[in-house]
Amino acid sequence: MNPSAPLSFEPPRGMRDFYPEDMLWRNRVFDAWRQAAVAFGFQPYDACVVESLELLQRKSGEEVSEQIYHFEDKSGRHLALRPEMTPTLARMVAARHGQLTFPLKWFTLAQCFRYERMTRGRKREHYQWNLDIIGEESVSAEIEILAAAAAGLRAMGLPDAAYRIRVNNRALLAELLAKSGIDAAYHPAVFLALDKRGKISDDEIAALLKAEGLDSDAVAKAFELLAVQTLDQAAALAGADSPALAALRELFSLAEVYGIADRLVFDISVIRGLAYYTGIVFEAFDTERKFRAIFGGGRYDSLLTMIGGAPTPAVGLGFGDVVVVEVLKDLLGEAAAAEKRGVIVGYMFPEQREAATRLARTLREAGETVDLQLGRQKPKQFFSRASASTAADAVFIGPDDVARGTAKRKNLATREETEIPLN
Ligand code: HAM
Repeated sequence: MNPSAPLSFEPPRGMRDFYPEDMLWRNRVFDAWRQAAVAFGFQPYDACVVESLELLQRKSGEEVSEQIYHFEDKSGRHLALRPEMTPTLARMVAARHGQLTFPLKWFTLAQCFRYERMTRGRKREHYQWNLDIIGEESVSAEIEILAAAAAGLRAMGLPDAAYRIRVNNRALLAELLAKSGIDAAYHPAVFLALDKRGKISDDEIAALLKAEGLDSDAVAKAFELLAVQTLDQAAALAGADSPALAALRELFSLAEVYGIADRLVFDISVIRGLAYYTGIVFEAFDTERKFRAIFGGGRYDSLLTMIGGAPTPAVGLGFGDVVVVEVLKDLLGEAAAAEKRGVIVGYMFPEQREAATRLARTLREAGETVDLQLGRQKPKQFFSRASASTAADAVFIGPDDVARGTAKRKNLATREETEIPLN
């Protein structure tokens, strides 16, 4: 380290700074998340971003646990920045299992850290909206979560036609793999390998499957399943009495009632990379498939028992702030988040400072957003600053206005003026 070398003004690689123009987008997304969660009756919870490494590694063997930022504190504790919220949620629920009334509907906006390879839509830090329903076995939980997510997307201004939620059921894949003679012991590895489709070549996936102990015939059968396109095709293989198919059909019929059926599609290739999912899984993408997943989630009925808690069914989703902002900017334009509101107040000479300040005070007390200029300005200077600002209206006070006891409030977009009293 050279103490006299200039410091970089960049944040650490993969981390973000949020300047005011970035905060406009972030707030738009956060506001929509909160609004939708509250509208659907989810209760907020939170926890510290530092979590015990052991808890996070209990679900080891998957990509996320290789990406954990971990450290040892001064007392030798092994700690980590959470890569996701779900283990923490499971821990919190397990800790109070006796006192809680199920099903729980909880939400949080959690900052998460993953040491990822940096690609478009992937940062090393992101905020993630988590919606989880704990203690409900039926697909009523899945559909409630998906409808809340759809409401969140609508609240941030994404048109319904701009995205699709792709749904599958790991239990259906398990049934189909079993019918193909692939033993249940291999299923978790098959899921994780098949989930890599599109990210690595099919040959590499085949090699992964063979390394797990599948023979060439079983590997071919696993790939064949991915050719299934419709629920009817799946039914032809799984049998009409398949419980996993019944769950999917029920989900699609509830989607009609919730009014989101136009956005839901069955896609057998949606498997998800996390090991703990046991049933229905889903991922949302922009319709044109230009970007990575907007959100993902599913049913994880065994996670609570995996960490030592009581058996409890659960469904949830994680919805990051990175991809959705890319999708929104692409569709609506970079400037779309800039909303003009409130009033900017300026004055010409020091003698008008008092009148300007009193006006700002009156307007602020009435609940308006007021950007009072902190020094005198020439009219030209003031109005050019005003039009670049986030204010909708402008009031510029000169000596004549004070003498008259009124000033003009100008709408910066329409240039319309209204006379307002100064005292
Ligand atoms: P996940 O698929 O790993 O699931 O992440 C969910 C979402 O978080 C992704 O679809 C994406 O929007 C965002 N995301 C994840 N990693 C990054 C990253 N490096 N940069 C930017 N955005 C990212 C989970 O985390 C599960 N815990 C979700 C869940 C909740 N399942 C049940 N409950």
